[in-house]
Amino acid sequence: MSFTVWKNCTLATMDSNLSQAYGLIADAAIVASNGTIVWLGAQQDMPQQWGDLNKDAAINAAIDCAGRLITPGFIDCHTHLVYAGDRAAEFEARLNGASYEEISRAGGGINSTVRATREATPETLKAQSAVRLKALLSEGVTTVEIKSGYGLALEHEQKTLVAARELGREFPVDVMTTFLGAHAIPPEYGGRADDYVTAVIDMLIELNRNGLVDSVDAFCERIGFTSAQVRRVFENAKALGLPVKLHAEQLSDSAGTELACEFNALSCDHLEWLSDAGISAMQKSGTVAVLLPAAFYYLRETKLPPIEALRLAKVPIAISTDCNPGSSPCTSVLLVLNMASTLFRLTPEEAVVGVTRNAAMALGLNDRGVLAIGKKADFAIWNLQQPAQLVYALGANPLHSVVKNGVLVRQASDHV
Ligand code: NIG
Ligand code: FE
Repeated sequence: MSFTVWKNCTLATMDSNLSQAYGLIADAAIVASNGTIVWLGAQQDMPQQWGDLNKDAAINAAIDCAGRLITPGFIDCHTHLVYAGDRAAEFEARLNGASYEEISRAGGGINSTVRATREATPETLKAQSAVRLKALLSEGVTTVEIKSGYGLALEHEQKTLVAARELGREFPVDVMTTFLGAHAIPPEYGGRADDYVTAVIDMLIELNRNGLVDSVDAFCERIGFTSAQVRRVFENAKALGLPVKLHAEQLSDSAGTELACEFNALSCDHLEWLSDAGISAMQKSGTVAVLLPAAFYYLRETKLPPIEALRLAKVPIAISTDCNPGSSPCTSVLLVLNMASTLFRLTPEEAVVGVTRNAAMALGLNDRGVLAIGKKADFAIWNLQQPAQLVYALGANPLHSVVKNGVLVRQASDHV
């Protein structure tokens, strides 16, 4: 059997079964075989079957990490990464006084990206999106969720999800696709939202038949869809056996969370206006709260999500970039880790849990997000000594290298 040993490292396993903060193991080693972690622990306890660390020749491959920190590969669990164009002009309009909602109601906002995305060829769409994906990968991301929702017609939603799947084949990252047909009402359906929801359901059935949908999302909001409309979408998702998640309580309390939890949603996302009733619904259904501090920052939102109440209710909290052209043109998980702590007062440990263990849960993936025997050998190696350093700095990229499915896929720099 072929295996690889990474020795002389500090492991932030994020395994909640271990008593140390971050599931930390110092002076550690980790062994992978066939893409899976087969052993990890204090290096001095490593069983002989993985070789004699003093005689490297006995080991298939032994990598000396020179004391570096290893975390699970980051999981960015909420992105709209595939789109064309940008919204710098809208950003400028907002700085001149217009609000996000006003711009949206005037046909800008999401619908301006819909125009650009519809006009883009599949090649252009993929090339523009690959730039953003590469930025995420340069910071240790090994799994990313990508939503559709800027096509809003079968041909263009298909083009988006195909681009997402192809990016997952072309880069060393697992892509989970989410159908977000109910993101905005496209201009050709102006004033006919219910008819558009019928079209969304038809698209869902077709795209799922083409193997392009891992889960289903919607935007439940005054400028999005009503809970009755979201219910129709979710009933169809359920009939197809697809998990759901929801953009909920971002700009107002629309009680979308309660609805999503009726369908055992994997996650409810944003949640600035989440009510107590919403929190207890999440607690009962085991739904993950995905917080998006970069969107909060970018829209200059002042209402904080109810973080302390979520903590008290033991609702798992994940965090994500929400990479999108309007409310969060952000491709940095490291920046979002810092924002989660500075803006939302998450502890650095909660923040790192939010892009690893809880982000995996938000995607319904139980094979990753922690370093433990039997989990996928996806990990990031950092030029750092302790995990709080991941959260602490702004604008630094301390990534050393990335291992995906047990194989070295990225080597950054060797500086410490
Ligand atoms: O997650 N809230 C809806 N969707 C995106 C924003 C999309 C856009 O403005 O293009 C979000 O914030
Ligand atoms: Fe979003």
